[in-house]
Amino acid sequence: MEKRKIILDCDPGHDDAIAMLLAWGSPVIDLVAVTTVAGNQTIEKVTRNALAVARVGNMQGLTIAKGSRRPIIRPETENAPSIHGDSGMDGPRSPKPMHTLDPRSGVQVIIDTIMQNPPKTITLVPTGALTNIALAARVEPRIVERVKEVVLMGGGAHVGNWSACAEFNIKIDPEAAYCVFHEKWPVTMIGLDVTHKALATPAVMADIAALGTKPAKFVCDLIDFFGKMYRKEQGFDAPPVHDACAVAYVIDPTLFTTRRCPIEVELTGTATLGMTVCDFRKLDYPDCSTQVALDIDHGRFWALITDALKRIGQVEF
Ligand code: BDR
Ligand code: CA
Repeated sequence: MEKRKIILDCDPGHDDAIAMLLAWGSPVIDLVAVTTVAGNQTIEKVTRNALAVARVGNMQGLTIAKGSRRPIIRPETENAPSIHGDSGMDGPRSPKPMHTLDPRSGVQVIIDTIMQNPPKTITLVPTGALTNIALAARVEPRIVERVKEVVLMGGGAHVGNWSACAEFNIKIDPEAAYCVFHEKWPVTMIGLDVTHKALATPAVMADIAALGTKPAKFVCDLIDFFGKMYRKEQGFDAPPVHDACAVAYVIDPTLFTTRRCPIEVELTGTATLGMTVCDFRKLDYPDCSTQVALDIDHGRFWALITDALKRIGQVEF
């Protein structure tokens, strides 16, 4: 079977790092590029973290490019040190990167990859602010017809985390999110409704630790730090590993329950800026290009991650 080609556009980030490892270790995914965007930390820090994760997973030959440093309109990116620490990926020892960055901007890498591959073969998987994706669609509108689909981690139909009703990735660049949700490509929103169920429980941690490899230990250290922050900041018993859910959807959509519906991004609300408003008034909207995930199979999700780490195996770093 031909592998599914994805570009992971991310801001590592604990859960972005796990998403990268899942994508690299999955037997059905071809991770063709990782592009970075400011979010959990500054663009310099998240890009450095992406390079470090590439070393942890021994991701030889992977294209990694630095993307946008600030939102499309708003003056600067709001970072999330309260969840991800000062480095953006606090907790594990972060190895010295061995990859060199692609000289192109992340936006250019997204455009080139989509235009140079056959139509409908590249899936975009954004797990950070949607700045790069929106800019790519504006610079080269032909990519909208040409991508297979966009599977993004962001938003929520019924819940927020960066405000009462807005999720971090959408809230920090709502105008970019507006552009992405309003393009004609198929969009699957993997939001907080499902990612808050993708918890790294003690049983999950034990399974990963039992692999006994350095990449598995790296993931345990990530989850350990992430868990402490989530407990302190949001009262979670175990941390939600949001971004890996978007990669898991590409690997096996049957893990998720989804609902097709129009999704609006709130741009003018005072208390609701960045809210993803899902219109559930009709049972189905057959012509709608957006859908939202509402449930996830926790056991099968974590089995994918454990399997990917097993396939990555031992790596010295
Ligand atoms: C999202 O925000 C970031 O902090 C995480 O990496 C994830 O992409 C969850 O709201
Ligand atoms: Ca992220």
